[in-house]
Amino acid sequence: MKTNISVVPRLARRDPRLAARLLRAFVAQKKSMLVDRALYGGPSRELGLMYFRLTPLCNLRCVMCGQRGDKGVLKGAFAAAEAKKVLPLEAYKKLVDQLRRKKPVVYLWGGEPFLYPDLFPLVDYMMEAGLTVAVNTNGTQLAARAEEIVKNKWHAVFVSLDGFEETNDRIRGEGSYRRAVEGLLAVKREKERQGSRFPYMGIVTTVNNLNYHDLYRLADAAREFGLDWHIFNLGTYSNAAIVERHRAFMKERLDTDISCLEAYDTGYNEGIDGRELHGILERVHAMDAGHPIITVPALEPDKIDVYYGSLETPVRRTCSVPWSQANIDYNGNVHFCADYPDYVLGNILETPFFEIFNGEKAIRFRRELKACPDGNFPGCVRCYQNMLCGKRLRGF
Ligand SMILES: C[S@@+](CC[C@H](N)C(=O)[O-])C[C@H]1O[C@@H](n2cnc3c(N)ncnc32)[C@H](O)[C@@H]1O
Ligand code: SF4
Ligand code: SF4
Repeated sequence: MKTNISVVPRLARRDPRLAARLLRAFVAQKKSMLVDRALYGGPSRELGLMYFRLTPLCNLRCVMCGQRGDKGVLKGAFAAAEAKKVLPLEAYKKLVDQLRRKKPVVYLWGGEPFLYPDLFPLVDYMMEAGLTVAVNTNGTQLAARAEEIVKNKWHAVFVSLDGFEETNDRIRGEGSYRRAVEGLLAVKREKERQGSRFPYMGIVTTVNNLNYHDLYRLADAAREFGLDWHIFNLGTYSNAAIVERHRAFMKERLDTDISCLEAYDTGYNEGIDGRELHGILERVHAMDAGHPIITVPALEPDKIDVYYGSLETPVRRTCSVPWSQANIDYNGNVHFCADYPDYVLGNILETPFFEIFNGEKAIRFRRELKACPDGNFPGCVRCYQNMLCGKRLRGF
């Protein structure tokens, strides 16, 4: 299985400037581990990657989604009330001004980022400030905005698709496949018409027990979409025992009540035959797709069963995220853990970002994490950020 860093050499040939920016983020992460974490433990001078969860709103309700799926809470009246807290563009501009020196790669997500009313001026402002911007979307509004996205030279767009039409729509809702594919094809046409290589386009597929049989058909269909990569994310899962261990830990060591991890106790990992999935992924990786196919996390074949069947077993150790990454939530709260925003470091409406990033709460979190066995909290076992950046455990 190929890992995420495998796209960089290919990109370096096509677009050395963009590859250099990605490499800078990668180096920041490595330096933060080797210097800031290892020598100091608490403060960090590096910042490689920032997530921006722009809105709690979404027009879909994908079953496994930790926010709006079966177990997610960002739905109905609660989501509507939360939406009133969404940051204005001016607040983001002030933050971006503080980031000009470090120039992290930024990843805009949500909810659905196209429902953030000032998405386009925000991306413009970030790009003018020298940030590298990727947008993760369900693709349902892509077709209508394709011309503008290509004209504005957005750097990268990740579209989520979870299977060929029928499978995808069972997970992501009726008509969602058709709309996302229309969006992908509209961007492809616009890039040809405008003679632009931007934005680089990718698909993200979250593997679960509803779609794993159908991954080859999707990968095959995706050859027509004009992609630059296709990522298979093995998925974020939890269970009641992990939630309880994490709850007790976070209360005792960080005085924090948790509510996010249980949204990933969906059961969509159950019944996945690891050997069969490995065979499917092997066929997918062997296909001549015309773009790299990447699995996150890349695992040894016999460990796929462990990934889905034994959620307590770690596959990555030493989370590096708090030393080089942060997530800005739609209300201005800053967290390290994008999918589990329980521990709030501060709020950008009240405090400059770098004071938060190296504030008392951030340092406390880093020190607790560093002191943990394997450098992970109990709830970190299938965290996506850790699957991307954590160290591979021997044998996995
Ligand atoms: C929460 S969505 C937000 C952006 C946008 N709405 C979308 O769907 O692309 C971000 C990514 O998380 C993925 N995702 C949803 N539920 C997940 C889960 N349980 N485990 C891992 N990834 C998940 C989505 O498929 C999507 O690729
Ligand atoms: S489109 Fe994205 S945010 Fe919306 S429900 Fe699906 S995964 Fe969640
Ligand atoms: S691995 Fe743990 S500490 Fe690191 S980002 Fe994920 S949840 Fe947070």
